[in-house]
Amino acid sequence: MDMKQKIAENIAQCAAACYEGCGLCCEDLMQMIEIPPDKKLGDFALPCFRLSKTLRKAPQMIAANLAEKLCCVEIERVEVVGGYLNIFLKRSNMAAGIIEAVLSKPGRWGSSNVGEGKTVCLDYSSINIAKRFHIGHLSTTMIGHSLKRIYDFNGYTTVGINHLGDWGTQFGKMICAYKKWGNHDEVEQGGVQAMVDLYVKFHAEAEKDPALEDEGRAWFKKIEDGDEEAMAIFSWFKEVTLKDTQRVYDLLGVEFDSYNGEAFYNDKMDPVVAELEEKGLLVESQGAKVVMLEDYNMPPALVLRSDGATLYITRDLAAAFYRHHEYKFDKCLYVVAYQQNLHFKQLFKILDLMGHDWHKGMEHVSFGMVSYEGRALSTREGYVVYLEDLLNKAIEKAREIIEEKSPNLPNKDEVARQVGVGAVVYFDLHNDRNKDIDFRWERALNFDGETGPYVQYTHARCCSVLRKAEAMALPEPDYDVLCDDEAMALLMQISRFPETVRKAMDANEPSLITRHTTQLAQAYNKYYFEHRIMDESDPAGTAARVNLTKAARDVIRTGLYLIGVEAPERM
Ligand code: ARG
Repeated sequence: MDMKQKIAENIAQCAAACYEGCGLCCEDLMQMIEIPPDKKLGDFALPCFRLSKTLRKAPQMIAANLAEKLCCVEIERVEVVGGYLNIFLKRSNMAAGIIEAVLSKPGRWGSSNVGEGKTVCLDYSSINIAKRFHIGHLSTTMIGHSLKRIYDFNGYTTVGINHLGDWGTQFGKMICAYKKWGNHDEVEQGGVQAMVDLYVKFHAEAEKDPALEDEGRAWFKKIEDGDEEAMAIFSWFKEVTLKDTQRVYDLLGVEFDSYNGEAFYNDKMDPVVAELEEKGLLVESQGAKVVMLEDYNMPPALVLRSDGATLYITRDLAAAFYRHHEYKFDKCLYVVAYQQNLHFKQLFKILDLMGHDWHKGMEHVSFGMVSYEGRALSTREGYVVYLEDLLNKAIEKAREIIEEKSPNLPNKDEVARQVGVGAVVYFDLHNDRNKDIDFRWERALNFDGETGPYVQYTHARCCSVLRKAEAMALPEPDYDVLCDDEAMALLMQISRFPETVRKAMDANEPSLITRHTTQLAQAYNKYYFEHRIMDESDPAGTAARVNLTKAARDVIRTGLYLIGVEAPERM
């Protein structure tokens, strides 16, 4: 039960009765209803100014007409002030309604079935083989992972795809370097870093001996031709990269349904190129083939090089067709940094020009850059931060804090992992995704700010209250005790959770949930510090406050789950 929704439904009914055929629907009203900053102006308010145009009546008149008809169990009274309809809720009824709704669906409050029978593909993380996983990959990985959970929560079938970057001439060079200077055990033990070292060595040597470049190209040709030795080394490079990366995915709790990357589409591009050709979309340009997009204010998209080689976008075209046929997606999201805006605009436009209107379900979910302690990352300047190192450092720091604050906590290692990783993930998903982020330790791990540890700590606080309550035999709750402003603010925040989840999904914006959950934790703490939860002289009131705590705990936990952050029960 979402309070605002209930009120909106009620007003819609009244409007239909007052102004026949006015067509004012619940959704419109949801957009218009406000929450007054001052509780004296009601728990909700409907400004009627915008309505006066469509209904051809003065705003005061509309407010008065609606006020006369409006009546439901949740509403205590209404007031008409200026052009506003101010609505005061029957607080104890409302408290009972919200709490019971949350507790009747443990872990599922806020979920829906709007996605039933629909499929969404999510392309995220999409790492490059033989490159180390650095913090620039955190956002794609976590936004994608969170969106997958959010869509799941709304009934969609989800397909998580790690579109591996496993194609390109650099792999020929790497094999060449490996054959010359590498050895099996070094790569097996050194992992991706050993491959990177080989690649660096290749370039250093090629400066002195340009013939190496040709050798590198020859090895890539072998990969293209499916040569047995080249393929065996190449597959092994992939395996080593994925094994290295898996450690990070395990820390983050991230999974995929498919690892079909660029190489997978090698034998699937011909039909796409043929169709482009057939539809007259390919133009010769200096021996290469391009799709002209100047009518759409974009540079031409290069689809085939003059030597016949395919490109990143050719593979993405083939991947789009494959996903369309294989998964019959309703939506296909690409969680990729905004630097690739043009690439995706070109990709979608080409599919549009080919006449495939399923491209409308495709969306580039872009995000900003990450810097570290005030400095932009740069491989060239050697300023890189590897994700695994960052996570391990966060765990170590969390461990120190726990050691200091709660030395007697059982399974400190496990909690340190949950808190350390949670702090990093939360930090990443806290701001609008298109904003650049500057990672700062003192902001990520602060137990008092708007941080993961703060929210997790509040969750653990709720759990501790509930553990104490378990030992008591409590009667039926008396919700009349939840009429104060702090309880009201907390209940309203809880009741807005379903709407927040829907908005987060519609905008592909997990940060809406992060911020909602933070505000919920703040509202609970405010309540907790101003009210005594356990009061032996008032068991029925205690039962109500305990149930409020349970509802808050549940919604915080669900919110954290949806952004991919764990919620320890003790901290
Ligand atoms: N591997 C690419 C990169 O690191 C991202 C791939 C994104 N997905 C896609 N279908 N293009 O830049």
